[in-house]
Amino acid sequence: MAGKETFYITTPIYYPSNKLHVGNSYTTVAADAMARFKRLTGYNVWFLTGTDEHGQKIQRQAEAAGKHPRVFVDEIVTWIKELWQKLNIEYDDFIRTTEERHKEKVARIFARFYEQGDIYKGKYEGWYCTPCEAHWTERQLAEGKCPDCGRDVELIAEEAYFFRMSRYADRLLDYIEKHPDFIQPPSRKNEMINNFLKPGLEDLCVSRTSFDWGIPVPFDPDHVIYVWLDALSNYITALGYGEEGSIFDTYWPADVQLIGKDILRFHTIYWPIFLMALDLPLPRTVFGHGWLMLQEGKMSKSKGNAVDPMMLADRYSSDALRYFLLREIPFGQDGVFSLESFLTRINTDLANDLGNLVSRTLTMAERYFDGTLPRPGHDEDKSDIELRDTALGTPAVIESLMNELKISDALAELWKLVRRSNKYIDENTPWELAKDQAKEERLGTVIYNLIESIRFIAAMLRPYMPRTPDRIWEQIGLRDQKSLQNWKSLQSWGGIEPGTAVARGEDLFPRLNLQAEIREVQGVTATSAQPESSISEEENEGLINLEQFQLVDLRVAAVLSAEKIARSDKLLKVELDAGEGEKRQVVAGIAGHYRPEELIGKRVLFVANLKPVKLRGVLSQGMLLAANGEDGKLALTTVDRDISPGSRIS
Ligand code: MSP
Repeated sequence: MAGKETFYITTPIYYPSNKLHVGNSYTTVAADAMARFKRLTGYNVWFLTGTDEHGQKIQRQAEAAGKHPRVFVDEIVTWIKELWQKLNIEYDDFIRTTEERHKEKVARIFARFYEQGDIYKGKYEGWYCTPCEAHWTERQLAEGKCPDCGRDVELIAEEAYFFRMSRYADRLLDYIEKHPDFIQPPSRKNEMINNFLKPGLEDLCVSRTSFDWGIPVPFDPDHVIYVWLDALSNYITALGYGEEGSIFDTYWPADVQLIGKDILRFHTIYWPIFLMALDLPLPRTVFGHGWLMLQEGKMSKSKGNAVDPMMLADRYSSDALRYFLLREIPFGQDGVFSLESFLTRINTDLANDLGNLVSRTLTMAERYFDGTLPRPGHDEDKSDIELRDTALGTPAVIESLMNELKISDALAELWKLVRRSNKYIDENTPWELAKDQAKEERLGTVIYNLIESIRFIAAMLRPYMPRTPDRIWEQIGLRDQKSLQNWKSLQSWGGIEPGTAVARGEDLFPRLNLQAEIREVQGVTATSAQPESSISEEENEGLINLEQFQLVDLRVAAVLSAEKIARSDKLLKVELDAGEGEKRQVVAGIAGHYRPEELIGKRVLFVANLKPVKLRGVLSQGMLLAANGEDGKLALTTVDRDISPGSRIS
C-alpha cells in the first residue's frame, strides 16, 4: 500500500434500536460505492461504519423488550452485519461503541477536555428529545415539540458536565468560511451558520446522570458521557487514536464523512469543535445527504416489508437495490422511495438497457461467429468512432463526478455509454450484415466493438453493482483476466483479444411484471409485518392491525356545494373537492344536523375508497366522517389547520 494516496470515508454509526430500513441503508450503500470507486482508481482506502450503542433511547428500548441492553444490541448488531453482507458492503472496520477499544479512548478524551478547562460541572435544566438524544432550550422547541423530529420532549433537571462551545465558536465560523468544501452540499452550510453559529453557540451538556447505559465519566462515575460525544469520537477511536503505531496517522483527517441531513448539527458544529479541542485537523468534507421518503411521509420500519432492505435484496438482488438507491436520487436531495419506482428502474435501466445490450450482443456473437470473438476490420465508420470515443471519455467524466459525490450523475454518465452501445446495434443492424457474405468483416467489427464496449461498462459498473460485472466477465470470456477488468485498462480501446471464447448466459435482469410484484410484495407485507408478540388471539379480538387500517383511504376534502335530496329528510348530496382537480359526489345522512349552506367551504374528512353506491337514486362516491354526540347530534370531523384538499390521513 505504501505510496498510494489515502482515502478515509465514514458513515454515521447507526442506533441498534431497531432493524434498519431502506433509508438507513442508503448512506452505507453510497459510502460503499465511493470506497469501492476509490479503491478501483488506485487509492489506499479505509472505510469505517459501525453502531452507536449507548444512551437513554437504547436503554429504554431494551427495558421495553425485557432485555439487558447488551443482549438487546447484540441481536440487532448481528442483523445489521448480515444486512451489510447481503448488500455487499465492503467495510474495512466496524466499530461498536460498547467495545473496550472505543470506551477507553472516549474516557481519556473526556478527561483531557476536563483538564484543559473545556468541560465544567453545572446543572442542566431544560428539554430533552430521547429519540434524537438532543438537548433543547424552551426557545428552540417547535410548538412544544422537538424541532428536529417533531416528537415529544421531556423536561430534565440534573447535575451535568458542560462543554464550553463558546470558546471555539469564532474559530469554527472562520474555518467554515475559509473551507468551502467542509460542509457539503453548500446550502447546508448557511443553515448551520445562520441557525446555530451566528445566534451564539450555547455550551453543550455532555453528561447524564438519570440512567447508566453509557461510558462512565472517569473521575465522576455517577455520570455517563453524553451519547453524541461518545458516538462522534468513533471516527478517531476506530483508527486507534492515541495508540502507538496505529493507523490513525495514515488516515486522519477523514476525506469524506457521509451523514444524513438530520445529524448535520452534530457533525459540523460539535464534532469539529471536539477535534479543535484535541488539536486535530478537521475532516475535509462532511456531506449531508437528503432523505429517502415514502409517498405518505417519513420512512419507518413500521411501514412494513416494502421498506425492508433485506427482503428487497433477497427478492430483487442486492445489485438492483444498490443501483436504485444510487441512481434514483441526486445525492444530497430528498427523494421518494416506492416499490413502483424501484421496479420501474429495474425494468428500464437494468433489464432493457443493460440486460438487453449484453444478451443481444452475445446472442449475435454465438449465432454469427460460433462464440469466438471476431477480429475487427481496419475500416472505421462514424458510429465506430463515436462508440469508441464515448467509451474512452466516460471514465474521466465519472471520476470527476464521483469526486464531487455526484453518484447518481456518474451512473447516468455510464448509462449514456450503455445507450450509445444499444444505438450502435440499431445503426449497424448486424442481422442485415449477416445476410451478406461480403459484409462479414464489417459484422466482425460491429460485434467486436460491442463486446469491447461491454468490457468498459462492466469495469466501470463494479463500485455500484459489485456482483453483476462477474456475470458479464463470465459471458465475455474475461473471468480470469483481471488486467482487462481494472481502471487502467480503460485507457485504451481494443483490450479484449480476438479469438476469446464468449457465451451467452442467463439474462442479467429478467423483466418484472410490475402489478404482480406490487400485489405480491404488499401481500407479503400484510402477513409478515405483523409484530411479534405474545398477545393471544382472544385479547386481539375486535382489533385491526396497521395494514388493515392502511387499507382505508382517508382524505381531506373541501365542500363545494350541498343540497337536499328530494323525498328524504336525512340525506344531503354533497359535492367535494377531493384534491388534484378531482370532484366527488357523496350522499351524507346529515340533513337533520347541518343546513346545506353551512357546509360550503368546510374542510371535512372522508373515506375515498368506498365502493360507489346509489342512495335514493343518487350516486355516492365515498363517505363523510362524523362523530355522534351524546345529544344525538352529528358533528362532522375536520382538520385543525388549513390543509389542502386531497391530503391523506394516516
Ligand atoms: N446514531 C446516530 C448517528 C451517530 S454518528 C456519530 C444516528 N443514528 S440513526 O440510526 O438514527 O441514523 C443513522 C443515519 O440514517 C442518519 O444519517 C440518518 O440521517 C439516516 N437516515 C435515517 N432515515 C433515513 C431516510 N429515510 N433516508 C435517508 N437517510 C436516513 O442518527
